[in-house]
Order: sequence, then structure tokens, then C-alpha cells
Amino acid sequence: MDNVFDEIIERGNTDSLKYDFAVRRGKPADVLPLWVADMDFRAPACVQDALAARARHGIFGYSDSREDYYFVLREWFKRRHGWAIKEDWLVKSPGVVFALYNLIQALTRAGEAVIIQQPVYYPFADAVNDTGRVLTVNRLVYKNGEYSIDFDDFEDKISKNRVRLFIACNPHNPVGRVWRREELDLLGRICLKHGVIVISDEVHQDFIYAGNRHLVFADINPEFPDNTVTCTAPSKTFNLAGLKASNIFIANKTLRDKFRKQLTSTGYGEPNVMGLTACKAACREGDVWLDNLLAYLAENIAFVREFVRERLPGVSMVEPEGTYLIWLDFNALGLGARELDEIILSRAKLWLDAGTMFGAGGEGFQRINIACPRAILREAFARLQRTLAEKGIAGKIL
Ligand SMILES: Cc1ncc(COP(=O)(O)O)c(C=O)c1O
Repeated sequence: MDNVFDEIIERGNTDSLKYDFAVRRGKPADVLPLWVADMDFRAPACVQDALAARARHGIFGYSDSREDYYFVLREWFKRRHGWAIKEDWLVKSPGVVFALYNLIQALTRAGEAVIIQQPVYYPFADAVNDTGRVLTVNRLVYKNGEYSIDFDDFEDKISKNRVRLFIACNPHNPVGRVWRREELDLLGRICLKHGVIVISDEVHQDFIYAGNRHLVFADINPEFPDNTVTCTAPSKTFNLAGLKASNIFIANKTLRDKFRKQLTSTGYGEPNVMGLTACKAACREGDVWLDNLLAYLAENIAFVREFVRERLPGVSMVEPEGTYLIWLDFNALGLGARELDEIILSRAKLWLDAGTMFGAGGEGFQRINIACPRAILREAFARLQRTLAEKGIAGKIL
């Protein structure tokens, strides 16, 4: 085996949401899971070693981060994203989704409007709806296989609905866009003009492919830090989602205090010590591992691009600029949303995320997680090809 990422690691019987819950969640037992956003790769050795050493210590009392945690993060963001953080901006949370639910409650009142850009990571809409806020959607524009923003509609929806908060997905899950400076700047300036606070969910910020660069929303305009909350985590980057550690940065003290107060009201106090330990080790020593991972993922994307082009007529891949989630367009096959889901799940035996889960504009799409050994990806696409051929679907393109 020439590449560590080629190793197929048995994940069954590890309490894995991806691998151990198919039947409980109403899926066939023999389904191949490429849905939830975690990777089929081991975390870097530096993380495994740090966790093993901490486990061997044997005492797991209440814990919190010290200065060294901040120093490691400061260097990480400077090195990887050219972003200078300050220690007092940091608020830790057990997850980005947990932070989103609590930020919405801290920064808006029930009945106020929050804007998101669908199709987008579905917990955004859930968090707005579940907290009794009003969901406002600025639909992304899909044209010639590419996504862009309708800024007029964004501003119009903000003023008509008196929107208070914007949740940006930067880079964007599931459409794979790494937003450009002009796009972020215009969004941010519209928000400032209308008194809309920005939450920038940047959990995918380390998955950026050649020709693209991640820009921290808060950092692109001197007026933005005061109006922006930046959500980050080592969980996607280093495959640590089960360790429940995320780092939220808020430069504006008033906003930060509101968020802290809201967190306290949930009963959440100190972070998980294993999450802290893993985050510190990963951000201190994980660069080379991450760079190798990115190279492997780029090859996985190249594999999908070619497979789709050569062997899946009627299906197209939206070219990802970032993230390890690929957005596949099946619309040319002319299937209904339910029929498409059924074919993917019950005939191809693939557990993907149906496009409709991501809201407006998701019809006819499926999201596939390509952060797995290439052999798994090959098997998944072979199943897809066989199924479409069996049904004679691929031959009947509209
Ligand atoms: C945009 C986005 N935000 C947040 C999360 C989840 O973050 P956490 O596990 O820290 O709640 C995901 C996971 O897929 C995601 O895609």
C-alpha cells in the first residue's frame, strides 16, 4: 500500500454513526455509507499519541484550556489562514451546531428573522426553526454547473423580513464553493448596512483545493470583526467529530458576553479534556498529515470527475473548490426526488444525503462524502453505474 489513506479500516462496532446505525435509521443493513461528514481515515499519529498519553494518565477530572491551547491555535490560524486571533475572542463549545443553536438564541429574539443560503447544511434551517426564529432563504443561483449569489435578492429579503442574523457557510456545504473576497465583502457590507450580525461557519476552512484560497470572513474588511462570529473546529480537519471540541471566535465583547451567558444557561461549563488534548496536538503537529490528506482528497475528486464524465451519462459533478463533500446533479435523468432517493438507497445500496435535505434548490441532487479510501469510492461509483444501467436510466437522458 503506497498511501496510508488507502487503508480500509473496519469501522463497524465502534459506535460509529456512519457505520453502526443503518438499520436503526431505516436503511438496508448492507448499505455503503457515504453520508455524514466524517472521514474513514485515522486521525494523525500525533493526535493518537497525545490521546493515548492522556488516557494513560488515568485521571479525567474537570478540565479547561490554558494559555498553551491558545498559543497553538494562534499559530495555526496565522500559518494556515493568515488570520491573527486574540485570546479573549475564544469561546469553546462542544460543537459548531451546538454553538449555532445558542448563538441564534443569544443574538436574536424569538420571532425575528435569520437568513441562510440554500441549498445549505441542513442544521442551519433546523436551528432557526427549532429556536422559534423565522427562516429566510436567499437561494443560491445554479447556472452552467456553477453556483453564485443573488445579492439583490439577499438584500431584498433582509430588508423585507427585517433580518437580524445571517449564517454564512464558508466554504459552502454542500455546493463546494470557496467564497471569493468580493463575494464575502459584498455580503458583509449589506449586513452592516442593515444591522445584520454575521455568523460565519468555517468548519470546512482547511479543505481547499488548488486555485482557491479560504478567506476568514471577519478578516477581509476592517469593519467586519466587530460584526462577525467565526465558528471553527478541528473536528472536520482532523476527523475528531466524536471528541466534541470547537472554537468560536468573537471579537465584539458585547456579542461574546451574550453568547457566554447563553452557554451558561444550557448548563455547559468546561470542555471535554480529550477534545482539548486532540485539538492541541493536531494544530501543533498535524500540518504534514493534513497536506497529504488534501493531496489524497484531490485525487479522489479527480477519480469522481472522470468516472462521472465517462461512465454516468446524465449525471454531473459540481466542481468542488473546497470541502470533501461532492454535490452530484442527477436532474438530467428526469427522476422524481423520491424515485432518485429510492434508487440510490435500495438499488445501489448507497447511503448518501438526499439533496432535498439541504432545502430549496436541492431537488435532483445527492451529496456524497469522498473522504474515504479510493477502493470504497470505486465500489460506490460502480454500484451507481450498475444501478443506472440496470434501470436503463442512463440511456434515457432528457
Ligand atoms: C457547515 C457545517 N457546520 C457544522 C458541522 C458540524 O459541526 P459540529 O460537529 O462541530 O457540530 C458540519 C458537519 O458536517 C458542517 O458541514
